[in-house]
Amino acid sequence: MVKVTVCGAAGGIGQPLSLLLKLNEKVTDLALFDIANASGVAADLSHICTPASVKGYSPSSKDDKETIKTALKGSDLVIIPAGVPRKPGMTRADLFNINASIIRDLIANVGKTCPNAAILIISNPVNATVPIAAEVLKKLGVFNPKKLFGVTTLDSVRAETFLGELINEPPTSLKGKISVIGGHSGDTIVPLININKSLTANVSKISASDYKEFVKRVQFGGDEVVKAKNGAGSATLSMAYAGYRFAEYVLNSLDGSTSAGSLVPDSAYIYLPGVPNGPGLSSKLGGVDFFSVPVILEKGEIKSFINVFEDLNVTSEEQSLVKVALEGLKSSITQGTQFVQGSKL
Ligand code: 2OP
Repeated sequence: MVKVTVCGAAGGIGQPLSLLLKLNEKVTDLALFDIANASGVAADLSHICTPASVKGYSPSSKDDKETIKTALKGSDLVIIPAGVPRKPGMTRADLFNINASIIRDLIANVGKTCPNAAILIISNPVNATVPIAAEVLKKLGVFNPKKLFGVTTLDSVRAETFLGELINEPPTSLKGKISVIGGHSGDTIVPLININKSLTANVSKISASDYKEFVKRVQFGGDEVVKAKNGAGSATLSMAYAGYRFAEYVLNSLDGSTSAGSLVPDSAYIYLPGVPNGPGLSSKLGGVDFFSVPVILEKGEIKSFINVFEDLNVTSEEQSLVKVALEGLKSSITQGTQFVQGSKL
C-alpha cells in the first residue's frame, strides 16, 4: 500500500501532477486536497483504469480543520504545489507573503498527522518555503531532514532541454550527465555541464556568449513562461512533469535503494546539517544550511548525497556561480526560518 497526498491538487500544477501520479501503478491511494474543487478532480481521475483509488478532500468551511488531517492520514508521500503563482514582473520571492503561511499551516498538519511521510515542496519561493517547513517540523519535534525535499527538478529538466538544443543532443540522453545545484530561483540556480566526460567534446565547443545565455536561460526559464502566460500564472505543465519525475524517484526508492549507476541522480533542496556528511558541506558553503545537491535515496529518504565539489568536475566558472548563489540563498533561508519563529502552530 502506498498513499500519496497532493496538497493543492486542483490547481494549475496540482491537476496534471495528480494525473501523472494516477498513472503510476505503485500508488494505491491518491488523496487530493485543495480548498475547493478537489472532489471534481478526484471524480475525473477516478475513471482512469489504473489501480490507485482516488479521493478528493476540501474543507467544508473556514473553520474545518479536520478534512486536511483526514486527507493526510497514513500518507507515505506528501507533495505540496499549493499557493499562488507569479504574475509578470514578479520574482518567486514576491510570493512569500501569501505562500509562507500556506506552507506553514499545511506542514503543521503533516507533522501532526503523518510525520513519517516524505515531503516534496513545490510551492514558491522554494528557497524559503523549505526552511519554513523544516522549522515547523523542528518546533513540533518531528523533523526528519532525510525526508524533506524542495523540488528543484524543473531546473534540471530545463538544463537538459536547453543544453540539448545547444549541442544538438537528444535532451533525454542528458539526464544524469549534467546536474543543477544551489537553489530554485534566478541566480541561486547553478547548472553543472562538465561532469560527464562523454559530453566534454561537445561542451568545450560552446562559445562564451552561448554559455552565458544558456546559464541565464536555465536560471530565468520560469520567467519565459510567466511572460508568455501573460498574467495567467507560471509554469504548471513542465512543473508537474518535473515534480512527478522527482516523486517517481522517491516512489521507486520505497522498496529499497536506488542507484543511477554512473549517472548523477536528480538534485533536491535539502537541509544539509541533517544528512550524512552534510554538516561538512554546509560549513564549506559558509554556513548555508539548505542547498540543492544530487541525492541518493533509500526507502523514501536520503541515504547520501553527491558532494559535487569533491566527487565531480566543477569548473572555476561554475564555482563563481555558486558564490553568487550562496548570497541569495542566505537571505531566503533567514526569511523562512524567522517567519516560523514566533508563529503559533
Ligand atoms: C518555475 O521554475 C514554477 O518555480 C516554477 O517555473
